[in-house]
Amino acid sequence: MSAHPGSEDSPVGAQSEIQPKPEKLELIDIAYELTDFRSFADLGACWGVDGAYTFHAAELCGNELDRAVIVDGNLTPLTRERAGAHPRVELVQALLGSREALDAVRKVDALIMYDILLHQVKPDWDRFLLDWLPHTNSLIVFNQNWLKTPRTIRFVDRGVDWYYRNVYVWEDDWNTRERLESWFERHDERDEDGRLERDNHWYWQWGIRPLELIGLLAKNGFELIYMKRHRHAFGRHRPWIVNDGLIFQRAAYPERGVGGRLRAAARSVAERTGVLERIRRS
Ligand SMILES: C[S@@+](CC[C@H](N)C(=O)[O-])C[C@H]1O[C@@H](n2cnc3c(N)ncnc32)[C@H](O)[C@@H]1O
Repeated sequence: MSAHPGSEDSPVGAQSEIQPKPEKLELIDIAYELTDFRSFADLGACWGVDGAYTFHAAELCGNELDRAVIVDGNLTPLTRERAGAHPRVELVQALLGSREALDAVRKVDALIMYDILLHQVKPDWDRFLLDWLPHTNSLIVFNQNWLKTPRTIRFVDRGVDWYYRNVYVWEDDWNTRERLESWFERHDERDEDGRLERDNHWYWQWGIRPLELIGLLAKNGFELIYMKRHRHAFGRHRPWIVNDGLIFQRAAYPERGVGGRLRAAARSVAERTGVLERIRRS
């Protein structure tokens, strides 16, 4: 989600700013039940929740947890404190799409990608996914998916007025029209790592069409095994943004062709939008 940079100075021992969301906890429970993961990495685990989804998944695994890895560009103090009490939780401070992050995670049963895909630029969200696929057999994805245009779009290409009208900008003390305008004005500046400000991962960058996401993964051997859509997650005036919880698994039946997987994915989206239901492994 569009968020302000994690607070390095938040007092150790403090409560997280945001309560873990029941729909995100439930998605991990379902993934655990469906895939029996024993190791996982939570990419972008920190802002607001300080690794809450990691520690929930670690508790589910209990003594059977092999390893858990938190990767974030900004490891918050509370994440560090909590990880200190879990000998099997590793911390990696790195850009999520970097070689450093991929090498540190190596191979895990599952990757948790909550509220991060739409932020990824260079590598872009699709390249980012492809880079991570060899490192796992399951993906647990929660993304703010986009229904307004027929194809996936890059929001900043449409200008600040369009961005303000169509993308979620909530008026709290950080996420304001003023701040959005100031970000657009700084788009050609570079940060200390040499990255262009317009590619900043703290803002919503992509309107990702769910079928493009599902199709990309199907073409690369990952089947959608569960999906739940949360409509109006950003108010009734933004019905084109939906929170989709998705679980993918490396296809168990390699003899099934891409066409079959794509059709199955399309069918499951059609059948399951707005419906709480499990897709049983065939
Ligand atoms: C919107 S927060 C989501 C936090 C949590 N996963 C959740 O669902 O509530 C995004 C988190 O991912 C991290 N993040 C996103 N893109 C990143 C990138 N390219 N490199 C490093 N960290 C990134 C941010 O630091 C932040 O902690």
